[in-house]
Amino acid sequence: MPDLSQPREWLVRAASVAVLTGAGISAESGVPTFRGPGGLWRDYRPEDLATPQAFERDPKLVWEWYNWRRERIAGAGPNAAHRALVEIEKRTPRFTLITQNVDGLHDLAGSGKILKLHGDIWRLRCTVCGAEFPNRRVPLPKIPPHCACGGLARPGVVWFGEPLPPGIMQEAEHAARSAELFLVIGTSAVVYPAAGLIPLAKEGGAKVIEINLEETAFSQIVDCALRWPAAEILPQLL
Ligand code: OAD
Repeated sequence: MPDLSQPREWLVRAASVAVLTGAGISAESGVPTFRGPGGLWRDYRPEDLATPQAFERDPKLVWEWYNWRRERIAGAGPNAAHRALVEIEKRTPRFTLITQNVDGLHDLAGSGKILKLHGDIWRLRCTVCGAEFPNRRVPLPKIPPHCACGGLARPGVVWFGEPLPPGIMQEAEHAARSAELFLVIGTSAVVYPAAGLIPLAKEGGAKVIEINLEETAFSQIVDCALRWPAAEILPQLL
């Protein structure tokens, strides 16, 4: 395991911590990442399915993919990395958790406020009346699912080319800019605007720690890159 004395000191001293998580934090829970091994589903890339155009063309196919992901997530629970973030939140005066994940595992671990940039796979939204409602049924009894009004329902997530939920990016940017310590955990950092939070935190003067098994486009600008599984190394940071 890498030497953690410096990152531990940053963590203890920081009065404000912001965290950006991606699919890698849930990998050790058994949830497949998008771009790593096992990320492909029936040879489709996320960019082929997570778009309004794909849904318009073939809502059943898109829903089959989400149903598969929901099944994988339903059988999973939060891991030691999710739980370590709950502990950091308790110890830090100002703490913001920003996630690209839609799996709900931060909620299950007990994190407080979570800025879910890409929405929530356990919520559905009607494409006709706009109603949004929770739905945890696994597997879905009928694909594609419908709203009580009869309209086609879509996953309550953000797709490529769609805007993020209103106001959320401003909150995330504020947290990144004002953080003394910024943790980037388990994200390939290729999807924007989320990835843009990393240089923003750096410009704002934060120490940036990246936890990832692989190098990313931002590894060169971070203050410390820890190449280790998140669920093993995060508890060691505490
Ligand atoms: P990716 O699948 O692109 O990246 C996952 C990252 O986690 C990779 O860089 C891995 O090296 C790393 N990783 C894997 N296992 C790990 C472990 N045990 N510990 C630490 N790191 C690990 O997932 P995201 O970056 O989250 O968006 O993807 C971003 C967005 O693209 C998603 O939110 C989703 C997707 O398409 C939408 O659907 C809009």
